[in-house]
Amino acid sequence: MIAGFNALAFPSECPSEYIPLDNEPPFIAAQHLSLEFPDSIFSLHDLGYSDQDIATCESSFGYSNAFRILSDEGVALMKDICERIYQNRNASAGTGANRLGSYARGAGYRSKFIRDFCDSPELAAHLSAIANITLGRHSVPAVACGINYAPDDITKAVDTWHVDSVSYDIVMMLSDPNQIKGGEFQIFNGTKQEGREILGISGEEGMDTQLPEDRVITLPFPAAGYGFLQQGNMIFHRACRLQEKADRITMVPSFEVLPRSAMDATNSINMSNWADPGIQQELARHEIW
Ligand SMILES: [Fe+2]
Repeated sequence: MIAGFNALAFPSECPSEYIPLDNEPPFIAAQHLSLEFPDSIFSLHDLGYSDQDIATCESSFGYSNAFRILSDEGVALMKDICERIYQNRNASAGTGANRLGSYARGAGYRSKFIRDFCDSPELAAHLSAIANITLGRHSVPAVACGINYAPDDITKAVDTWHVDSVSYDIVMMLSDPNQIKGGEFQIFNGTKQEGREILGISGEEGMDTQLPEDRVITLPFPAAGYGFLQQGNMIFHRACRLQEKADRITMVPSFEVLPRSAMDATNSINMSNWADPGIQQELARHEIW
């Protein structure tokens, strides 16, 4: 690897609130990944961003449609691990109280399989080729490996309109999308400023309400193990509410642009309000790095 192109190592310690799983299978990239390329890639220009807006980003990459990431065996193991972590998910407090229904950030502390998946050089190289920029696993463990579950109360959105606090992430479906009614992943066909203006919100904050239908794009997942890549801090997006109670688990691993001297869009100020165990230390490490 070229010097400076390595991600910051995961911390060697684990906050006590995270309960590590035992009896996990090892993650084996050659067996558990099945990396394919997306058919379509859209730029920030396609969403209406100006050259001036894009100059504040390291890349004009916007988002792709879903592409295959995990093999059948990889999906089965990953889904089982995420189901085991459900009992030790985050309390829906902090940002969770107003946005995410049910989630487990910092899943890499709980599962070595997930940590090694998110940290795999094969995955980072593949995503880098798609975005045409060098990406590495995000240096803040809370966001490096996230899991979203469907909320118990299905009248609530799985995730409301928002932008992410990191520049790149993949949203990977682990449940069978053909068994899910509702819960669609959608992006706003416009800039985040426009989207927020229509909803009357500011910052990263989410809102469970409708945007004009003709301005909304749904990104379908063809099967479990498929996901898409987005420049999440620039894409206004949400996951809709479920129409029926269903199993809907997505994994959201985050990435940052390398080398570390690259522009960093991580919103540490917003993240410092999160209630995740160890988040202040994680952000301090990231900022120092
Ligand atoms: Fe998001």
